[in-house]
Amino acid sequence: MSKRTFRVWRGDNNGGTFRTYEVEVDPGMVVLDVLHRIQANDANDLALRWNCKAGKCGSCSMEINGKPKLSCMTRMNIFAPDETITVQPLKTFPVIKDLVTDVSWNYEQNKRIPKFKPRPREADGTHRMYQEDVDRVQEFRKCIECYLCQDTCHVLRDRSRNDAFVGPRFMIRLASLEMHPLDDDDRIPEIRKEFGSGLCNITRCCTEVCPEHINITDNGIIPLKERVVDRYFDPVAIIGRKLLGIRRRTKSRAEGK
Ligand code: SF4
Ligand code: SF4
Ligand code: FES
Repeated sequence: MSKRTFRVWRGDNNGGTFRTYEVEVDPGMVVLDVLHRIQANDANDLALRWNCKAGKCGSCSMEINGKPKLSCMTRMNIFAPDETITVQPLKTFPVIKDLVTDVSWNYEQNKRIPKFKPRPREADGTHRMYQEDVDRVQEFRKCIECYLCQDTCHVLRDRSRNDAFVGPRFMIRLASLEMHPLDDDDRIPEIRKEFGSGLCNITRCCTEVCPEHINITDNGIIPLKERVVDRYFDPVAIIGRKLLGIRRRTKSRAEGK
C-alpha cells in the first residue's frame, strides 16, 4: 500500500475547481478503484460514471493527466511513484457534475445516419459476401462508444465544429455502412456534405486514443475521403462514370473497388 496524491475536478456546468485527495493505493488498482476509494472515504458526493470495469461499456471515459482514457483500464503502476494524478471530465462535452459529462450530442449524430439498406437477394435467395469484405467492416463494430476519439478530435474539441463534422466515431459508423458489401445506399454525398468528411485533416489523434485499437483514420476515414475525391474531384473518374453510366463505385474490395 502507498499514499498517492489525486487532483480531481469537482463542479458542474457553472464552473468548478480541482480538489486534492491523499489516498492509500493497493497493488493492482486502476484509477477507477482509487476514485471509488475517494468516493467511499473522502467525497461521498463525487459523481462518476462506470458500469463494467472491464473496458467494454465505454462509460468511465475521463481525462487522466491530460489524456482521454478509460479509468477502469488505466493501471496505477503506469505512473511514477511520486506523480500526482490529475483527473478531469471530457473537455469536448458539457459537464453535468464532477467527472460526468453530457454526451447526448453523440446519440443525436447516430440518429442522423441513414440505416443499413440491404440490396435485393440474388436469384437463388442468398446474400453472398466475400469474407474479405466482411472482415473489413468487422473492425468498426468493435466500437464501445466511449467517445474518447470524439473528445480528442481537434475539430470538435478546439474548433467546436460540431455543427459541420460528425466526429471520428460516426465516421467509422458511416464507413461500416458504406463499405458493407450488402448495403445499397449511396452514402457518399452526405458523408461529404452533412457529415463533413472534409474537415478531418487525418492527424490520427482519434486512432491513438481508441481503447479498442480501431484504426479509425487509416481504415475508416481515409477510404471515405478517397471515395469523396473520386466522386467529386477526379476528372477521369467523373468522365468515365458518365460515359459508362455508372452511378457510383462498387462498395466491395473483393469485387475490385
Ligand atoms: S484524424 Fe480526423 S477525426 Fe481523427 S482526430 Fe484527426 S481530425 Fe479528428
Ligand atoms: S472508435 Fe474507439 S475511441 Fe471512438 S468511441 Fe469507438 S471505441 Fe471509443
Ligand atoms: S467501466 Fe466499462 S469501460 Fe470502464
